[in-house]
Amino acid sequence: MPKKQVLHLITSARGNASYSKGLSTAIIARLQSRQEIGTIVERDLTEAFPPFLHSDLIGAFYKDPLSVDETERHLLQYADSVVKDVSNADILVIGTPMYNLGMSALLKSWIDQLVRFGVTYGYDENWVRKCKMNGKKIYLAIASGGRMADWPADNEFIASHIKAVFNAYVGLTEVQTFRIEGTVAPGFQADYEKILAGL
Ligand SMILES: Cc1cc2nc3c(=O)[nH]c(=O)nc-3n(C[C@H](O)[C@H](O)[C@H](O)COP(=O)(O)O)c2cc1C
Repeated sequence: MPKKQVLHLITSARGNASYSKGLSTAIIARLQSRQEIGTIVERDLTEAFPPFLHSDLIGAFYKDPLSVDETERHLLQYADSVVKDVSNADILVIGTPMYNLGMSALLKSWIDQLVRFGVTYGYDENWVRKCKMNGKKIYLAIASGGRMADWPADNEFIASHIKAVFNAYVGLTEVQTFRIEGTVAPGFQADYEKILAGL
């Protein structure tokens, strides 16, 4: 069986002290131990921030690719590199801290660069949305200072957002989420093996 290509996204500002990075790295180690994967492409978004959306970039996103000029081509460079990274991958391993109940802003910006009309999704003649990428699995690693069990159930926004946006606008429907919770508790010890026991 051909080996699978992995795209590893790191989005925590805390470098090697990051638990989401620790968990996403442990997920990759598990997959490696099963001899399932070949190349791993690592993108640490804290080393090179994705651009925010702005008026000219949005204009370039929606332009007919054949009429994109040199300036717009330059603006689209980051977005094109993200599309290429995802296209080349069979598996996405995404780590994110919980910040203010949401995902890392770097990850949200990266998603805003990936999702593009005509590139990751389009519409058929009946105006039904059709996604253009499929067959890739996402492993999501979320680190939070608190524990989900201590909050109202409707305070879960990260996994639900990631699942919804990749399903609606990219075509990736298989998302498996792992959580490392309570990281700010005194004396907290990460037990990645226990979290990943079912993987
Ligand atoms: C600015 C900021 C906001 C945070 N917001 C939350 C939050 O809303 N809920 C929570 O449980 N923990 C919150 N935390 C704690 C982090 O989720 C926790 O430290 C987590 O381990 C960060 O991920 P990392 O270890 O990958 O950096 C926040 C931390 C920071 C720095």
